[in-house]
Amino acid sequence: MLITIPSVLDAHEVTEARSILDAATWVDGKVTAGVQSASVKHNQQVAETDPAARQVGDWIIKRLEQHPLFISAALPLKVFPPLFNRYGEGHTFGTHVDNAIRQITGTPYRIRTDLSATLFLSEPDTYDGGELCIEDTYGTQRVKLPAGDMVLYPATSLHYVTPVTKGVRVASFFWMQSMIRDDAQRTILFDLDATIQLMNQDQPHSEHAIRLTGIYHNLLRQWVEMG
Ligand code: NI
Repeated sequence: MLITIPSVLDAHEVTEARSILDAATWVDGKVTAGVQSASVKHNQQVAETDPAARQVGDWIIKRLEQHPLFISAALPLKVFPPLFNRYGEGHTFGTHVDNAIRQITGTPYRIRTDLSATLFLSEPDTYDGGELCIEDTYGTQRVKLPAGDMVLYPATSLHYVTPVTKGVRVASFFWMQSMIRDDAQRTILFDLDATIQLMNQDQPHSEHAIRLTGIYHNLLRQWVEMG
């Protein structure tokens, strides 16, 4: 399932994040790439340990923790500290799949990447190209979102970023280990949760909604992985 999470950061926070990131030290994006993806990756990144990355990354995590749509869609267990990339003119990232396991630099912690996220930090009308193209069951989805919005998609997907031909595209990207490893199971839980919420809007605390909530939790109990 591919889903857009709107307004993770508001306009003011995007402006603030950009002024901090624009003043940071940018390095070649190949630093975090695996062997295959390094050969097709042409962009820049803020160094993982740069305080600017940690400051803005922590905001993003804080906002996501309070975002009901994100929680319902991702059912996150562990979130990788957000990284930041920049595509200037001619920069691109060819077709690749993200590494299955990520070590958090400078720590013994590793996560299994079940979900990938890209949070856009440039308005779409400020650059040409730079679309995130994600192959899913229904074909290739082309994603270019307003600044502050985020796309969440299965980390198993092949994806690429089309060349930026004008302007600059800045984004945050990171991964999550979900409590529900399987995308199909996670999608069922997400749809069920959305249905329960609609039922509660129509008729608060109806017996049917309560029964369905029970089924949601019983499925979660069957499928959940806590470590
Ligand atoms: Ni990728």
